[in-house]
Amino acid sequence: MACNKEIPQLAEIAANPLPKVEELIDWLASFGADPDGGVTRLLYSSDWAAGQSAMAVLMEQAGLTVYYDDVGNLFGRLQGSEQTGSTILTGSHIDTVKCGGKYDGAYGIIASLLALARLRQMYGIPKHSLEVVSICEEEGSRFPLSFWGSGNITGRYLPDAVPDVQDSAGTSLAAAMTAAGFGQGAYRPSLRQDIAAYIELHIEQGGTLEREQKTIGLVKGIVGQKRFTVELQGEANHAGTTPMAWRQDALCAAAEMIVWLEAEAKKRGEPLVATVGNITAKPNTSNVIPGNVTFTVDTRHADQQQLDEFCQQFLQQFQRIAEQRAIRIAWQEWLNDPPVAMHSALVEQIEQICRQRQIDYRPIYSGAGHDAQIFQKVCPTAMIFVPSHKGISHSPMEYTPPEALTAGIEVLTDLLYSLAYEGEPG
Ligand code: HGY
Ligand code: MN
Ligand code: MN
Repeated sequence: MACNKEIPQLAEIAANPLPKVEELIDWLASFGADPDGGVTRLLYSSDWAAGQSAMAVLMEQAGLTVYYDDVGNLFGRLQGSEQTGSTILTGSHIDTVKCGGKYDGAYGIIASLLALARLRQMYGIPKHSLEVVSICEEEGSRFPLSFWGSGNITGRYLPDAVPDVQDSAGTSLAAAMTAAGFGQGAYRPSLRQDIAAYIELHIEQGGTLEREQKTIGLVKGIVGQKRFTVELQGEANHAGTTPMAWRQDALCAAAEMIVWLEAEAKKRGEPLVATVGNITAKPNTSNVIPGNVTFTVDTRHADQQQLDEFCQQFLQQFQRIAEQRAIRIAWQEWLNDPPVAMHSALVEQIEQICRQRQIDYRPIYSGAGHDAQIFQKVCPTAMIFVPSHKGISHSPMEYTPPEALTAGIEVLTDLLYSLAYEGEPG
């Protein structure tokens, strides 16, 4: 349920973001606030819609031209003086994981909005157009697909070919999009050809910056990741009358696979990670042997070949375990994104800004996926990280201190100034 506070006045905020950025992050977190302190804002849900429309009002307050595209990405535009047809885009995603933190995605949108509001107040109209984007979906939390927002902007998804996927309640992506008022050609086309550069400010979601007491992470690249859904079909039966030797227990099969997966990933060592984050056992009843189990596998590595080889190995091992237990197995790979390097000229520009501002920084690779890896395929792209306290993310415990949030905004503002007011994008 959205417990929406009234929208803070942005006018005086842009001039001095330090006390305000926290306020705006808490305000946006009120859209989808969970009782235990987390945030859940799933694509096309009512909390998601309330959060997007509140961001639209805030963007209007900042003097930007506000519009949606056809899949629900929200943009605030500061039109440039030169009709170069190119736009510098900055922002992040508005959706969250279930019971997530209040900074993942949200910070990048709010910081980008504050940066544009500040640039407009201090320098007026830019040479090149600037836009802040509140990307409709990145996480893959509601439907088994991710990057739906940036994927539509960059052509990874086609607006008239909505993937046939359903959420856990059986609602299709197409039906949810239509119910939220999108997907009927009522807004601007999602596919863009004018993006000259994409810049994303984001929390690190890891512990390196805090551990090394660095304020800014210069993101050199983003790991590759693959996500699968595995389905096991055994035989539901009576928990009391079925001897252990006669069972086709789908949940015990899944357990053997998951324990093997963890051990193998540990054996191979960093930066490989493998996670089973979602599992459903049916009929999920205490006195019935589970006949059917579905679980997800999320696995990532900085090297594509090692990622591919690990996936091939674990799928073969799962097949072996299934055969030994007379269990039928099927899997679907629904996400496969290769590792990407960020645009080196932009990374160097960010490094220069950190040096000029005497802000402690270090180069870093992202273990988390981001919309930036999608934009990098079509335009020069860079990310700026700020620390995550104890490296915690995708949790109500997610936290970044205000001085780091502000340092991120200062660096982003300088970069956007150099790109949009001074010269050609990197
Ligand atoms: O899961 C991720 O890497 C990102 O937070 N979507
Ligand atoms: Mn994120
Ligand atoms: Mn995330």
